[in-house]
Amino acid sequence: MGKYREIGKPNVPGHVSAVFGDIESVRAVADEDTAAIMLEPIQSMAGVTEADPRFFRELRDLCDKLGIMLIFDEVQTGIGRTGNWFFSGSELADGVEPDVITLAKSLGSGVPVGACLVNDRVSSNIKLNDLGTTFGGGMLAMAAVLATLEAIEADDMIANAKRVEQHLRDSLANVRNVVGIRGKGCLLGIEFDGPCKPFHAKLLENKIITGTSSDPNVLRLLPPLCVSEDEIDVLVRTLE
Ligand SMILES: Cc1ncc(COP(=O)(O)O)c(C=O)c1O
Repeated sequence: MGKYREIGKPNVPGHVSAVFGDIESVRAVADEDTAAIMLEPIQSMAGVTEADPRFFRELRDLCDKLGIMLIFDEVQTGIGRTGNWFFSGSELADGVEPDVITLAKSLGSGVPVGACLVNDRVSSNIKLNDLGTTFGGGMLAMAAVLATLEAIEADDMIANAKRVEQHLRDSLANVRNVVGIRGKGCLLGIEFDGPCKPFHAKLLENKIITGTSSDPNVLRLLPPLCVSEDEIDVLVRTLE
């Protein structure tokens, strides 16, 4: 996003950006010298922007052809959030698997932890002692990851994320000022016919925490995967 590129100046050299969802714009900047293509597969902060599943297939084909590593940033989309364990490999990605997946946020249910998952092609190039880290594999963080994964499985929260998405879509279909719903599972954007800021403020007054995005009309929702349909109804009633 432009804002972060501005704050982070001077930027790391050698990076270029392309338009999300537009394979031609990627082709225009990628060649055999490109090391990696990294993207967030649903662009959350940008306004919960989605791409056609075909885009991910075309990206994979391009990377395979040119020897480029494909990296999906699943910090927001990973660990069940879209109604799939990962966006990677799901129908949302046309089954495409990247070479690297980054994870954080819900991985530890609030306990700080991040992870980087790699395929055999990548791991076979990492040797013992190539990399070290002070906190890697910390016991508290690992216990939190295990507990998170077990709870998601035990309570079937991935199916719940899908159910909640459908319930929200049905419930908001005829609500005034709402012109669209974006996203998947529990990573959703409500698109209004004007700025969402007044709705964001009013919801907060009613103790409902939502997020804005860089699209002024899109309010972001990232409820816990265990959110119930009754709780979604509270949001809908308040919006009404
Ligand atoms: C999509 C995405 N990637 C990466 C990050 C950075 O992750 P962390 O805060 O764990 O460094 C964030 C937000 O924090 C994010 O939303």
